[in-house]
Amino acid sequence: MNIGYVIGESKPTFVTALASRPVSVGEYVIIDSDEGRILGLVEKSSVSSAAFADVRNFDEAAESIEIAEMNRRDKTYTAHIGILGFLDKLQRGQSIIPAVPPIPGTSIIQPTKQDLETIFSPSKEGWIKIGNLLRNQTIDACVNLDKIVSRHLGILAMTGMGKSNLVSLLTKEIAKIKGTVVIFDYHNDYTSLNIPKINVVDAKINPRLLDHEQLSEVLEIRDSANVQQRVLRMAFTNKVKESKEFWTKLEEEVEFIANSEDKKFKEYRNSAYRVQDIIDEAQRRFGEILDPDMGDPISFIKEGRANILNISELSEKQANVALAFYLQQILKDRKDASLARHGKSKKLGTYRFNSPIFVIIEEAHVFIPKEHDTGAKYWAAKIAREGRKFGMGLGIVSQRPRSVDLNVLSQMGSFAIMKIIQEDDQHQIASATESTSRELISQLTSLNVGDSIMVGQWVNLPSLVHIEEVKEKIMGGDQSAVSEWAKAEKMSEIAVESTQQLVQKDLLLD
Ligand SMILES: Nc1ncnc2c1ncn2[C@@H]1O[C@H](COP(=O)(O)OP(=O)(O)OP(=O)(O)O)[C@@H](O)[C@H]1O
Ligand SMILES: [Mg+2]
Repeated sequence: MNIGYVIGESKPTFVTALASRPVSVGEYVIIDSDEGRILGLVEKSSVSSAAFADVRNFDEAAESIEIAEMNRRDKTYTAHIGILGFLDKLQRGQSIIPAVPPIPGTSIIQPTKQDLETIFSPSKEGWIKIGNLLRNQTIDACVNLDKIVSRHLGILAMTGMGKSNLVSLLTKEIAKIKGTVVIFDYHNDYTSLNIPKINVVDAKINPRLLDHEQLSEVLEIRDSANVQQRVLRMAFTNKVKESKEFWTKLEEEVEFIANSEDKKFKEYRNSAYRVQDIIDEAQRRFGEILDPDMGDPISFIKEGRANILNISELSEKQANVALAFYLQQILKDRKDASLARHGKSKKLGTYRFNSPIFVIIEEAHVFIPKEHDTGAKYWAAKIAREGRKFGMGLGIVSQRPRSVDLNVLSQMGSFAIMKIIQEDDQHQIASATESTSRELISQLTSLNVGDSIMVGQWVNLPSLVHIEEVKEKIMGGDQSAVSEWAKAEKMSEIAVESTQQLVQKDLLLD
């Protein structure tokens, strides 16, 4: 079906067209050139009316309505179309831009369902459906799971726009095919996800496995308290690490420093007392989290499952230490397993993870921040660089892309980007995804919940998609303060009533 013609000045990557109907931004069209059928994406669309061109007041505007309706030629529908490549080549995964710009007068036609399905919903192994094209709604939108494990994924959007929904959807699909996912769940968003093969773990830290800097972080010794740090370093000996009574032994070692008559220890005395208090306090406050008797934390992660690591009870620093530990250990295990598999290592034995793993870090701006270095950031960056070789994929999720380290962000081979209004967030995304067209990024402000721009290696072409809602979970939904307050008031009325009844009873009994 012919819907328009190329007009004006064409370029090999760009044409302007006049259409017979309004066209939507994000809609795919075909430019039927002599060289072959070319797929284009509508990047800008405008409508104007000749009858309203020169109106200067209300009455003229009112009169123009009738004129505009009578005159078939009144409306001008203009579309700016970005050229994506020859259709048949795109269907085979190649993007070949025409050498010669489409000649003005070339027809613009509507693609058939099959034209688009070959590109956006290929029925190949590894591809899963995550929704449908936003502007060509009958077409399923699929993504290639292989690519997110081998080349990583960024999910970026303002709060409440559907990031966790997409994470849940991907997790559900990976678990279905017996893949392994690990989600670091900082806001307890996923523990109630009701999908098969889920494994919820309350993340804990085994202090025996830390180095003295990490121990100092999880005990919350201040960064600037140099002497306290030194005391802890001296006290945290291998004997303590191996002792059955970890905390008692650690405290003994600190006490030894505090009571030592040795000249060089004397100046540490006050700090050592403070460290003792800190250790006591940490056991009281974080007893549930810092567990020297838990064994190996990694053993709680199961292969072939959707592992939800609940880190919501941990402070930010503790979560950071935990993340760094898990990332380091999983990478090490995947490295060993891959090397053994390729016969490059003589090491025998079984590995915890014999197949690829996809690890998802929510709140990436906290754990992989732009401004300063953290343990989690070091390991995330390493995985972003090396994970590909060892079958370890990284997914980073953030509502503040501007605060995420650009180095890590730009290693993400694929992105889902939902509504984002802040300009500095948009700039950061533009720098991290050099292939994303500016026009697509300028769409970001107008998207609705669940709408996403999909770019990178997990799709054949950049596309605007509406993502399916995961029904197995009520999550992150906006809470109604008004109804909660009403409930709270009712509860307090009931409480007052029953107290009054009790008081009356008491009086009677007296
Ligand atoms: N694809 C979708 N279709 C319809 N509704 C959706 C979709 N994705 C998310 N929602 C709804 O939007 C709400 C917020 O979604 P979600 O928790 O995924 O957002 P988020 O981006 O992770 O937010 P936050 O930044 O707060 O973590 C949920 O109540 C969910 O039901
Ligand atoms: Mg979320």
